[in-house]
Amino acid sequence: MEREIYLDNAATTKALPEVTAAVVDALEKSYANPSSLHRFGLKSEKILKKSRKIIADYLGVKAKEVIFTSGGTESNNLAIRGITKAYKNRGRHLITSPIEHSSVAELFNALENEGWQVDTVNVDQGGHVDLEHLRNLITEETILVSIMQVNNELGTIQPTKKIAEIIKKKNPLSFFHVDGVQAFGKTYSNLGQWPVDLYSISGHKIQGPKGIGALYIKKGTNLTPLIYGGGQESNLRSGTENIPGIAGLREAVKKLPQLSAAENTDKDLSKKREYLFNLLQEIEEAVINSPAAGAPHIINFSLPGIKGETMLHALESQGIYISTSSACSSDKQGSRIINACGLSQKRSESALRVSLNNTITNDDLDYFIKTLKEQIDFLKLF
Ligand SMILES: Cc1ncc(COP(=O)(O)O)c(C=O)c1O
Repeated sequence: MEREIYLDNAATTKALPEVTAAVVDALEKSYANPSSLHRFGLKSEKILKKSRKIIADYLGVKAKEVIFTSGGTESNNLAIRGITKAYKNRGRHLITSPIEHSSVAELFNALENEGWQVDTVNVDQGGHVDLEHLRNLITEETILVSIMQVNNELGTIQPTKKIAEIIKKKNPLSFFHVDGVQAFGKTYSNLGQWPVDLYSISGHKIQGPKGIGALYIKKGTNLTPLIYGGGQESNLRSGTENIPGIAGLREAVKKLPQLSAAENTDKDLSKKREYLFNLLQEIEEAVINSPAAGAPHIINFSLPGIKGETMLHALESQGIYISTSSACSSDKQGSRIINACGLSQKRSESALRVSLNNTITNDDLDYFIKTLKEQIDFLKLF
């Protein structure tokens, strides 16, 4: 193949060389169990402690408030189920959005089937939560609200701080969980200052290893564990710690940009996204589904009349890898997320997601656009 361009970084990323080195090093040299009392075990425990501190510092929280999990899916499940189990006598009402990742959406479906009252907040066509509707949904019975920070298909950024303040003002006893998997390292958050109680992250979305993630649990938030055993991770997630994964995650976090309220997105990535956004706008057949001010790594667009999957494979044949919608959902009816935003069926069925990382060049994006135009012209013939 002439050229290969990977534009599916919201699905997963290539590990950084530092990450691979740290994983290999831990596998080869720090393989003792961190719970073992000998010196060798202590070496692994040191990695655990140091990594937890680096990740907590990046999140702006205390090391004690971060536990390691197997990834975003587990963090989301532990946060949401953990609250429903621990606070079931306080209230039976839960709130979420219709555009959550399946690891949240499917869990809320299960909870509804188990008798919980689940309300879904309205979103606009760009996937932004209707804040007034959210305020109206919160009652004394609401024990948990779960709304992601960045949507994985559209890249929509929610005003997480504002959402947190609305929740706490209406019901200070209600907990707020944020799926931060696509936001972590891409958009600013300040968990130490914002009234967010639980925040999920995942290693493989930030050029770290797969199968490792973390959950921030604000002090004073009780969770009932999902996994019982040796009591690791403050009794919340038993099982021998994944030291190689944790060391790799630490290295990936070290490479994340330092964001602030003023510099609130990854600037390099934002420039690339803007470049691509402008090029896509010039294609007559394309309609962009993502908000202009979205997360710096995701652009979703549709080519009404051309099935997303057909274009995906056409581009694949030219060495370009993108997604139809979320890599982990079947999209027989088009995209669940785009449907939930009230966009047309034609737009939903033809939706494509391009997701960037810092190694993509403008030249790569020019090549992508050139190839996309060629494939549109070719597929229009049928
Ligand atoms: C928004 C969001 N949440 C959760 C997950 C699940 O993370 P993991 O693959 O680490 O389980 C993903 C992955 O696609 C995601 O994009």
